Amino acid sequence: MTQSREVLAMMDTHTTTFGRKRGCTVSPCGTFLFGAAFLVSLVVTGLLVYHLAPCLEDKLVKPCNDFGNSVFEGRGLFNKDAYGKKKLDVRLPKCIVPDSYELSLIPFIQVGNFTFNGEVKILVNVTWNTWNVTLHAADMTIDAHFTNIREYSNAKAGKIIKIRGQSNDTERQFYTISTSEKLKSGKQYVVHLKFTGFLNDNLQGFYRSSYTVGGETRWIAASQFQPTDARRAFPCFDEPALKATFKISIARPKNMTSISNMPRTGEPMPVAGLSTYVWDHYERSVPMSTYLVAFIVSDFEMLKSEVGNFRVWARSDAIEQARYALNIGPRILQYYENYFKIKFPLPKIDTVALPDFSAGAMENWGLITCREVAMLYQEGVSTSSNQQRVATVISHELAHQWFGNLVTPSWWSELWLNEGFASYMEYIGVNAVEPTWKVLEQFVVHDLHNVFGLDALESSHQISIEVEHPDEISELFDRISYEKAASIIRMMDHFLTNEVFKQGLTNYLNAKAYKSAEQNDLWDALTKQAHNDKVLDPKITVKEIMDTWTLQTGFPVITVIRDYDTGSVTLTQERFMLRNSTTVTTSSDEPLWWVPITYTTESQLDFNTTQPSQWMKAEKSITLSNLNWDPSEWVIFNVQETGYYRVNYDRKNWQLIIKQLNKESFRNISTINRAQLINDALNLARAGRLDYAIALDVTSYLAHETEYLPWRAAFTIMHYLNTMLIKMPSYDRFRVYVLKLLDNVYKQVGFKDNPRDPQLTVFTRIDVLTWGCKFGHEDCVQNAVRQFYNWRNTPSPDVNNPISPNLKAVVYCTAIRFGGQIEWDFAWQRYLKTNVGSEKDLLLHALGCTRETWLLSRYLDWLITENSGIRKQDVGRVLNSIASNPVGQPLAFNFLRNKWDHLRKYFGTSLLIMNNIVKSATKGVNTKYDLKDLLEFTKEHLGEFGSATRSMQQSIEQAEANIRWVEANHATIQDWLKRNTA
Ligand SMILES: *[C@@H]1O[C@H](CO)[C@@H](O)[C@H](O)[C@H]1NC(C)=O
Ligand SMILES: *[C@@H]1O[C@H](CO)[C@@H](O)[C@H](O)[C@H]1NC(C)=O
Ligand SMILES: [Zn+2]
Repeated sequence: MTQSREVLAMMDTHTTTFGRKRGCTVSPCGTFLFGAAFLVSLVVTGLLVYHLAPCLEDKLVKPCNDFGNSVFEGRGLFNKDAYGKKKLDVRLPKCIVPDSYELSLIPFIQVGNFTFNGEVKILVNVTWNTWNVTLHAADMTIDAHFTNIREYSNAKAGKIIKIRGQSNDTERQFYTISTSEKLKSGKQYVVHLKFTGFLNDNLQGFYRSSYTVGGETRWIAASQFQPTDARRAFPCFDEPALKATFKISIARPKNMTSISNMPRTGEPMPVAGLSTYVWDHYERSVPMSTYLVAFIVSDFEMLKSEVGNFRVWARSDAIEQARYALNIGPRILQYYENYFKIKFPLPKIDTVALPDFSAGAMENWGLITCREVAMLYQEGVSTSSNQQRVATVISHELAHQWFGNLVTPSWWSELWLNEGFASYMEYIGVNAVEPTWKVLEQFVVHDLHNVFGLDALESSHQISIEVEHPDEISELFDRISYEKAASIIRMMDHFLTNEVFKQGLTNYLNAKAYKSAEQNDLWDALTKQAHNDKVLDPKITVKEIMDTWTLQTGFPVITVIRDYDTGSVTLTQERFMLRNSTTVTTSSDEPLWWVPITYTTESQLDFNTTQPSQWMKAEKSITLSNLNWDPSEWVIFNVQETGYYRVNYDRKNWQLIIKQLNKESFRNISTINRAQLINDALNLARAGRLDYAIALDVTSYLAHETEYLPWRAAFTIMHYLNTMLIKMPSYDRFRVYVLKLLDNVYKQVGFKDNPRDPQLTVFTRIDVLTWGCKFGHEDCVQNAVRQFYNWRNTPSPDVNNPISPNLKAVVYCTAIRFGGQIEWDFAWQRYLKTNVGSEKDLLLHALGCTRETWLLSRYLDWLITENSGIRKQDVGRVLNSIASNPVGQPLAFNFLRNKWDHLRKYFGTSLLIMNNIVKSATKGVNTKYDLKDLLEFTKEHLGEFGSATRSMQQSIEQAEANIRWVEANHATIQDWLKRNTA
């Protein structure tokens, strides 16, 4: 899945609902198993040992439950979650595994009652004698009279098995069928069910969506199952390791089309008793997980690639905007086939742009679904970053066809194997088709620096973590699983060398194709290849190295202390945290990492070698000697920032670096490392590890910097300083200082878009103008206001927009900020009328820039008004924009508090959206007074946050940290600014 940008920006991390010990606690599992074995007289020692052992080591394998569900209760299988609520064990019993499904669905989408009828036949294998079939079902009615189970052998259904009872466990989303006779281990049975579900509008399961053409509503039925919503569309064994083949049939109105994972077989067939509908039957799939099943009924149009059987779908008004995806999609797919040395196994692949979609995109096998903005690009209307986003999303979802679809993590705990690889490969794929964009460099400022911020919080979590409940699973789709995982994969790519890395991946994918895997399987494949090719000492395994990165929370800062007399250097590692923990850590539980060490010096200037010359082998410190460094030359560690760690230096080395940065030859330090220095220095200062005066000294060289990466790093830092200082008396000096730094680069890029500029120049311009205008740069504001004024006075502004797409965000926001109701209403009208998703996005965001309180209040009201024109999927984005505005921040927070019950009703259990809302509305909280309110609100609604629990906790930690920061640093910064703005 690709998260929407807003969701990712919002979803941060903490441990409250995580952090339980891995593995199975001995007593409940053991006791239960002995009890079960005794009562059903299965005291066969061999079998008992066989099942007991995996249970104790690995909770994923659980004994069968032969007493109905009640047996779980009272046997200690409840855990308590962070708030003391009972926690259910929600994993399916493993006595039955599915082998194949035959699924047919009739969605009543045009006839109007928004239900769907379904029928599913599941061929199951019994692996342990049982009297129950337990599978997942949620929000549906199963026709109990119809349910039947038959023996199955020699490709034929046999004897009917008598059913004793059927029961629903709504809390666990289980449906259990109890039989009167034993279902025998080693045999196969067919479970046949009929059911009715509801096409909800919560964007999960099998849901409905709509759009309008000339005032007429057009309906769509679409699916979104990851992680645990296939069970809302049909009863199934809804866990990722339970792979099966799927033969799907979808009935659809004759004037619409349907699509699914596989190609259709034969011609549409009549539907008995429903003359306006026909059946589309689809080929049987390869073995796959339930969460990857997909189907869509729509009236969309389609474009097809000339080679490769790649198709794109969208509303007919928007289908031309899918040409870019159609252009790059097949090329990236082919690139991956060569990269992984494994052919894409399905006969076709579709990608569909949906008007309503909760995530950014979803990698369903052979049927990728996307938000419109994640797939549609219109030249002259969409921005360069829109275009890059489309390429990135397509590249990400295509990478999943191997990482996730072909080889699937055994359980959601190892989601990072999916998302980390897709998030890393997305850069490799885009780089293959758009080499001039330099996306491999962009990785550092877009992913690495981003996730450093979150992973430095106490409440971060490990990459690989135990989860069970659907709420916890949803929480895992955060920056740690995506960006941190991608960052440590990038680190492996460099320390193993690319050849070893690639070959190891290919071996892993081949060994586990159509099966599930765990991180140890990957480590084994990479270790073998690394030993083979002699890039790792035979005594060292990839597992030993990487476990320190996936099983421990956080990341290290390496402190480099040079001895300028002897020329030696001491490196010390320690977990980097924004807040130095108040609890005293004993040396025994202090985390240590295997750190690949790379460095270069002023005389070497080797910024190419990223294979480590040295390792810190989970050692607290090491000393390097015989280095022959001249005491007057600087040294920089972590070349190209390929290691997932920060570096701090002694004062003298920092000063040597600052001196170099202020020379004309500052480009002697590679662009990525210049961005690294800014990002490290300011964050070290923020954490109290470096004098703020030194850190700010690092930024002064920006006055002659013109490249994207260092500026991007600087803007991220400024964003934080800006939020902290905006209500302080010293704010004006900060503003003056930033404008001074921007002066030269502003002149370089200018207030004029040039589509022929390289991507990174375009991006630099956008950033520079955004910050220039934000700080009231006169030329910037004037240009923005004038351009908006010209637009308002253009005849038919909906077709004629004279503002260049890349400048729209800054022009809209600035003009609305400096304007009043006229500007606001004009923009709102454009929002309602435009047909382009990315334009809607820009306008929605800009509308939150106004400084008129009443306009913001009205905007907030519209968020939860049906038919106001704001889609549910966009609520987080709007709140985020309002909360980023100093005038809007308190309004957004009040909105959350006052409308909490309403919000919960309006958004149902749509987890991503609620998460997003909580995070947006609370992000600006940074005074003691607001923090008190936040704590009160949390207390009052304890237990109501669902998957937003973690966000809530994180907001609190963030607010506390902000308050402490102001106390600790405000005076130093004020002094420094005074000295440097005179
Ligand atoms: C189910 O059993 C059949 C027959 O023994 C076997 O061919 C098939 O691979 C099994 N399927 C699964 C998913 O275990
Ligand atoms: C919904 O409409 C269809 C088609 O008219 C009908 O067959 C079905 O029974 C209806 N379902 C419900 C729950 O009313
Ligand atoms: Zn993904």
